[in-house]
Amino acid sequence: LGRIEKVVIFCVFCITTSGLELHFLNMMEVPCCKHILKLLENVVFFPIRYSLKIQPVEKMHLAVVACGERLEETMTMLKSAIIFSMKPLQFHIFAEDQLHQSFKDRLDSWSFLQTFNYTLYPITFPSENAAEWKKLFKPCASQRLFLPLILKEVDSLLYVDTDILFLRPVDDIWSLLKKFNSTQIAAMAPEHEEPRIGWYNRFARHPYYGKTGVNSGVMLMNMTRMRRKYFKNDMTTVRLQWGDILMPLLKKYKLNITWGDQDLLNIMFFHNPESLFVFPCHWNYRPDHCIYGSNCQEAEEEGIFILHGNRGVYHDDKQPAFRAVYEALRNCSFEDDNIRSLLKPLELELQKTVHTYYRYARSPKEK
Ligand SMILES: *[C@@H]1O[C@H](CO)[C@@H](O)[C@H](O)[C@H]1NC(C)=O
Ligand SMILES: *[C@@H]1O[C@H](CO)[C@@H](O)[C@H](O)[C@H]1NC(C)=O
Ligand SMILES: *[C@@H]1O[C@H](CO)[C@@H](O)[C@H](O)[C@H]1NC(C)=O
Ligand SMILES: *[C@@H]1O[C@H](CO)[C@@H](O)[C@H](O)[C@H]1NC(C)=O
Ligand SMILES: *[C@@H]1O[C@H](CO)[C@@H](O)[C@H](O)[C@H]1NC(C)=O
Repeated sequence: LGRIEKVVIFCVFCITTSGLELHFLNMMEVPCCKHILKLLENVVFFPIRYSLKIQPVEKMHLAVVACGERLEETMTMLKSAIIFSMKPLQFHIFAEDQLHQSFKDRLDSWSFLQTFNYTLYPITFPSENAAEWKKLFKPCASQRLFLPLILKEVDSLLYVDTDILFLRPVDDIWSLLKKFNSTQIAAMAPEHEEPRIGWYNRFARHPYYGKTGVNSGVMLMNMTRMRRKYFKNDMTTVRLQWGDILMPLLKKYKLNITWGDQDLLNIMFFHNPESLFVFPCHWNYRPDHCIYGSNCQEAEEEGIFILHGNRGVYHDDKQPAFRAVYEALRNCSFEDDNIRSLLKPLELELQKTVHTYYRYARSPKEK
């Protein structure tokens, strides 16, 4: 095994031995959380997929916007991306200036992995309207709208919120780019599965995509296409490019939007529905999918691929399963010197997990 493989297996070990199993056992009684169990399945299959790794060709670009107290959460998200992914990653981290040094120190300490590179950026707006944007919107909240204009050299990008955790290789969601038809430019998951508890369909005072709107916490973009497209809109009869549509859109709807840039994206794709690829809820699994009963069918069937701990659930006790996954990943360290000596016990531990998983996973059906 090479160094990277060992590090990766070590982290899998961290996850499987950090008390998660106990949590899982208790959680079996809570129907809404049982498919987080599927995490273990990913953990078991992951080393196998990893060993099949072929020579990397294409980099996967991942962007995040970190402000305020989000350093630790962002680092945990990045760690989860590194642990599970196969192709090399390029991180684009947009952060408030006072966070830059901490990001640099932490990421440089992982550089021995050689599976990722990163660039740090200040929070920026297109210069023409910078003042106006700053006045209208919290800077961090609207940064992602400008990614296609700032990262001009980047063809495609996965944007995620800081409270995202990858439970599958980034490669898997990245591969959806190839499934876009000729008119699709971006991909997101629905905001809700169940219209009776949906937010947009009950409260929004602006147009939104589809039946319940879309959630922008995980957004896959072909930015080449986004930059080229002329968007239909309800402000003028002419179609407008991405860089020209944002300001008029914000001016028109600023009094009616609640969730900031996500609302603007919903308005945009309401008028251009042929441009959106909608992926299922297990690519953006939130507490809403299980608090009022389990309503994400795909997670029931295939497990959670990307966990989105919005509403602060990684940091309080409202959703113990979300918090347990977050803490296990946060506690796991790449920097440990004892990887070599851990390898053997670790393999044994992993094998045990396979059996444990199946035993735990079967018990509810047997009841
Ligand atoms: C990161 O960047 C360095 C210098 O540009 C390059 O040599 C290296 O191959 C890159 N690593 C990855 C994983 O892309
Ligand atoms: C904003 O909401 C109000 C109240 O629902 C509505 O009358 C108005 O048309 C909305 N504005 C836009 C631009 O949709
Ligand atoms: C994005 O779209 C452009 C233009 O259609 C295409 O050339 C490129 O291959 C696409 N990128 C990916 C990753 O599919
Ligand atoms: C691409 O898929 C979207 C969503 O299903 C659809 O609305 C659009 O018409 C499709 N475009 C083409 C060219 O088939
Ligand atoms: C992570 O570490 C914290 C503090 O060291 C500890 O309290 C917590 O139980 C650990 N959680 C997991 C899941 O390993």
